[in-house]
Amino acid sequence: MDQAEKRISEGSAYGRGPQHWDREITEVGPGTPCGEFMRRYWHPVAVSEIVVSRPQNVRILGEDLILFRDGKGRVGLLYPRCAHRGTTLYYGKVDEAGIRCCYHGWQFDVQGKCIDMPCEPDNGARVREKIRQPWYPVEELYGLVWAYMGPPEKKPVLPRWDVFENLGPNEKMVATGSSTGAGGDDTVEIVPCNWLQDWENIMDPFHIPILHTSFSGVQFVPEMGIMPDVTWDHTELGMRYIAHRKIEEGREMDRVTLALFPHVRIVPDVRLIEGTAQRIGWVVPVDDTHFRLFHAARVPLDWKGRVPTREKPWSEMSEQERQDKPGDWEAQVGQGPISFHSEEHLASSDKGVAMLRRLMKKQIQIVREGGDPMGVTFDPAKAVNKVEAGNFYRSDAVTA
Ligand code: FES
Ligand SMILES: [Fe+2]
Repeated sequence: MDQAEKRISEGSAYGRGPQHWDREITEVGPGTPCGEFMRRYWHPVAVSEIVVSRPQNVRILGEDLILFRDGKGRVGLLYPRCAHRGTTLYYGKVDEAGIRCCYHGWQFDVQGKCIDMPCEPDNGARVREKIRQPWYPVEELYGLVWAYMGPPEKKPVLPRWDVFENLGPNEKMVATGSSTGAGGDDTVEIVPCNWLQDWENIMDPFHIPILHTSFSGVQFVPEMGIMPDVTWDHTELGMRYIAHRKIEEGREMDRVTLALFPHVRIVPDVRLIEGTAQRIGWVVPVDDTHFRLFHAARVPLDWKGRVPTREKPWSEMSEQERQDKPGDWEAQVGQGPISFHSEEHLASSDKGVAMLRRLMKKQIQIVREGGDPMGVTFDPAKAVNKVEAGNFYRSDAVTA
């Protein structure tokens, strides 16, 4: 054994190999394999109610864009650099017809059509139709603004979800765009690590008894501390796990959690309240090293907000408190801006993570070859997806 081999066998930190992440499944910019795969789906980009006439910057899939609502209530999502001489439309003003650039007043509608050029003869009537500010299509649904940033000819139907359809008179939808579901809180929107670290965590049921129940005290309910029997499998839209727990003699349950393409997470109630999940999350990549979580939920009209899982909001915790009682934020952001896959040692409990990555690589390959990945449909009759996640108690459980 030479010196180098000896160091490796002893686990010396000196002379470690080069670190790298799996670029194929993490990087989301235009033209990257994962970025092109992502661009075949609709993404939530904002909570509808905060989209007003004042333009705002949004960053998504590594692209900077300007989001606004015109006086007719239509939402626009435009490339920021004005088609004239490139100043940002962030300083623009919005009226009934669209957004007007601050510099020379060119005005664009929500589809980027140039509708006014005040410094040109005849307001540019003869030239403006040649000008188009780059734009993306948007729709609004479940209290969220959705954008499609892919090839126009491949624009799929915006998915709907059966659990959000046909609300009763005492129910409403709520939409959020904060980091609460990733261990942060309502005051923090962007989580500083790669989106995959959060999404693949959804297929990792074994961190729940450790991180959320023993290491940091009980963040959900004590029953989560029971080590589950887990099966993972593929579904029509992605993957699921079923975590079986024997809560006590005669009381057993299955917790079914879904990770659906491209970044949908459906996590049943963490207090193990019975029933189908009524809340859906989307882990939207801001860029390669940041993500933002959006959620939509069906709740009673008198709903008072989510029960906190941490004693204090994340932003009010000291570093010591975060060390003493870490949560998802610390675990996921703690993996680094993009986790080094070259240094991982996946074990049997990571089967879901490994399966999810493999299935995603397959979808990326399908897109690369010109096909349509899982969960994409062009048929409006197939727009409604069924949610099969939830906490299901086995009423017929027998004592062993
Ligand atoms: S740079 Fe926008 S109108 Fe001139
Ligand atoms: Fe977690």
